[in-house]
Amino acid sequence: MNKKLQLNDFVLIGRTFEEYYKMFDLKDFSKSERILDVASGVSSFCAEANAKGYNVTAADRVYAFNPEEIEEKCAKDLEETMEKVSTIKELYKWNFFKDIEQLKSHRERAYRGFIKDFKLHKEDRYISSEFPSNNFKGNQFDISLISHFLFLYDEHMSYEFHKQIINEIIRITKKEIRIFPIANLKAQRSPFIEKFMKDKAFNNYEINIVKVNYEFIKAGNEMLVVKIKQ
Ligand SMILES: C[S@@+](CC[C@H](N)C(=O)[O-])C[C@H]1O[C@@H](n2cnc3c(N)ncnc32)[C@H](O)[C@@H]1O
Repeated sequence: MNKKLQLNDFVLIGRTFEEYYKMFDLKDFSKSERILDVASGVSSFCAEANAKGYNVTAADRVYAFNPEEIEEKCAKDLEETMEKVSTIKELYKWNFFKDIEQLKSHRERAYRGFIKDFKLHKEDRYISSEFPSNNFKGNQFDISLISHFLFLYDEHMSYEFHKQIINEIIRITKKEIRIFPIANLKAQRSPFIEKFMKDKAFNNYEINIVKVNYEFIKAGNEMLVVKIKQ
């Protein structure tokens, strides 16, 4: 397959709590755990999870901008992405979303939910960070979730850059890191995954690929779990 999404920069497209719950198989998570959503962007996960009683902090470089600027880019990115997706429909599985209209309204709900919460909690829940750089303390979180940021863009970010980011997330996370998807924009498992699992620098951690009950990008129904402490 030689078709793929063309990206000049990271698009501001966000997912919902329902999607995160499935992508990361969150059913075993307790509400007392401190969760970091890494590169959370305009996802409504943080907003919805906190409303349900979870303890979630979101970190993304886009939080340096104000809500109005972000909202304007979201609306533009949503239109452009839907046009692109309609030309490469065969790279996706249409189960969770039946069609492009449903996908679009779900993504719109996500960014609108985010913007509303961002306006209220810009100072406490949404932390501007351009990873690997960050101001979080060691072990500040129990669990870190990384959705649609690492491995997906393996043609845009080097393996070394992935390593620097993962090392930082390990430093600030006490128990476990979950990364989804591990497929890249060609809808194939990223070659960085094998490299990462064999990388001696990560020998101290238990690393597993786990199948989950969510697949939108074809072959994208696996998450990577890095256990830091049992
Ligand atoms: C495709 S979005 C994913 C958003 C969210 N995790 C989700 O799945 O709905 C990728 C996000 O990565 C963010 N990003 C890109 N490089 C980053 C970096 N070095 N540090 C923090 N965030 C970054 C972008 O701003 C964007 O919000």
